[in-house]
Amino acid sequence: MCGVFGYIGEKNAVDVCLSGLEQLEYRGYDSTGIAGVHQGTISFCKKAGKLSELKKVIQMQPLSLAIAHTRWATHGKVSDQNAHPQFDEKGSVALIHNGIIENYNVLKEELRTQGVRFASETDSEVIAQLIAKYYQGDFLEAFHKTLSRLKGIFALLAIHKNHPDEIVASALHCPLAIAINEQGTETILSSDPCTLIGDNYNVIFLQSGESAKIQKGKVSLYGKSLEQIDKKSTRIEGSSQKPSKGSFEHFMIKEIFEQPLTIQKASLNIEHRMAPTFELFRDASRVLFLGCGTSAHAGQIGTLFLEDFVGIPAISEIASEARYRVSLMEPTTLCIAMSQSGETADTLSALRAVQSHGCKTIAICNSLNSTLAREADTMIFLQAGPEISVCSTKAFTSQIATLALLGIRLGKERKTLSLKEEEQLLQALERIPSEVQCVLDQASWIEKMAQKYADFNNFFFMGRRYMFPTALESALKLKEISYVNANGYPAGELKHGPLALLDAQFPVIAFCANLATEEKIVSNLMEVKARGAPILAIAPHHLTSVKEIADDVIWVPDTLDPLAPFASTVVGQLFAYFFAKTRGCAIDQPRNLAKSVTVE
Ligand code: M6R
Repeated sequence: MCGVFGYIGEKNAVDVCLSGLEQLEYRGYDSTGIAGVHQGTISFCKKAGKLSELKKVIQMQPLSLAIAHTRWATHGKVSDQNAHPQFDEKGSVALIHNGIIENYNVLKEELRTQGVRFASETDSEVIAQLIAKYYQGDFLEAFHKTLSRLKGIFALLAIHKNHPDEIVASALHCPLAIAINEQGTETILSSDPCTLIGDNYNVIFLQSGESAKIQKGKVSLYGKSLEQIDKKSTRIEGSSQKPSKGSFEHFMIKEIFEQPLTIQKASLNIEHRMAPTFELFRDASRVLFLGCGTSAHAGQIGTLFLEDFVGIPAISEIASEARYRVSLMEPTTLCIAMSQSGETADTLSALRAVQSHGCKTIAICNSLNSTLAREADTMIFLQAGPEISVCSTKAFTSQIATLALLGIRLGKERKTLSLKEEEQLLQALERIPSEVQCVLDQASWIEKMAQKYADFNNFFFMGRRYMFPTALESALKLKEISYVNANGYPAGELKHGPLALLDAQFPVIAFCANLATEEKIVSNLMEVKARGAPILAIAPHHLTSVKEIADDVIWVPDTLDPLAPFASTVVGQLFAYFFAKTRGCAIDQPRNLAKSVTVE
């Protein structure tokens, strides 16, 4: 789960690579490194830690070609030695890798018995060592021989000291784009086209098993059997500017505050954007939502929309588990894969599994050029703009806005919603951006609450119906950026075991904005209070009785039950943000995590 980047062109490749790494750091920030060929030797710099650490020490001469890497550690601890590029023992080959080599142990043993010495604990080093072993003057041939030995998933870039003008590359189940600018003067290789800035580019996405040799102004492509192939390129406009925090302290808070706008954007021109999906729903006997983390929580809310508005049986499954539930994958199961990045390996594998059983697939995704967007039968683009903070916020509210509109539209078509219900829902949905703004206007009160609770290390987040996935999502936000134990629970389930944990040191955060289960959640609050646990309630304005029970209340605007997740989730996001800030945590790049999880 890393980012790979390469450059050949007229600019200083080292500078371009550093700038590319900035854009790819969301894929991992355990270490970074750059390598190029200079006067017949490999010149490189690599460093454990974030890119800022590399920038402190890098002193490389200008190069016209370089490869660069940002790492999320899988095999081997976070260290300079395990940082990429990895080399063969003689330092002839430099290689960067995103993915996992599953048979690296067998290959390592084989090379060791031939006397090869290893310098790192990574799986990737075996690739560099194998290339060197097979090299007899033809770099591409050695690379191709090596590829035939590898099992696993990868996007690879490699250079050789005797071939100062070429980069070889290959992809297997990991994204790799090759972009050539319009003038043909620069070629960029990247895990994500988001690194393309300024120019317009013709971009080739390598399919699984394909490889390439890149020289200045020339790209030679090879198919699975190493035959030379031609591929169509896609024209992509490089973004005009790099993402910026503006006046905000962190990307997370900036992205939280963007939500009134991004929720509106999710509904712009939606009828047209959703149109290709309607056909797929016609033949669907049930819907299976797939996703991980926040995107899985959005899918859980999606199941409620489809059941409540359309009456289609719908289930949501964590993507990494879904692929084993073959009985769900009948050809009439319609699969909706939710993903901000469109590159999450678990979601992609689950998508491929359901497709192999004949299911049709829809991607709901925030990246137009992602693997998920390309592989699903059709996609709905979230248009939320780049989400940089590892902790996902605006993508979630855009996902549920899209799902709500999809549900309402299908409910209308199938007449499972009356005209009045449809109008009420649409009107309530139109009010959501201003209701979210009301929550944002309470940021300083939510900050006070976060400061008050910031010394606790254990939390339950509870809710019923629409507030259950909301509780799960809010608990995930807190644990992810504050490293405290926070668990989401259906409020009715607490008494079946978890209640035993409660005492004065174990607060409960209660999401109360689900009208249909109001009386029951009030009873659950009483049960919690009787055990002496502090209660922070997030409650709709009309539910004044909560004031007498909870220690603290954050009020949210009254709305219809299905739309209550918007405002309540934003409270959860702000609470998590200010809690982490009070505790001095690294908010945008929490430890051990990466924005895009590209390994299973
Ligand atoms: O890009 P995706 O939506 O597929 O990512 C899925 C999860 O990795 C992601 O939502 C993760 O749980 C977030 N860091 C949560 O804030």
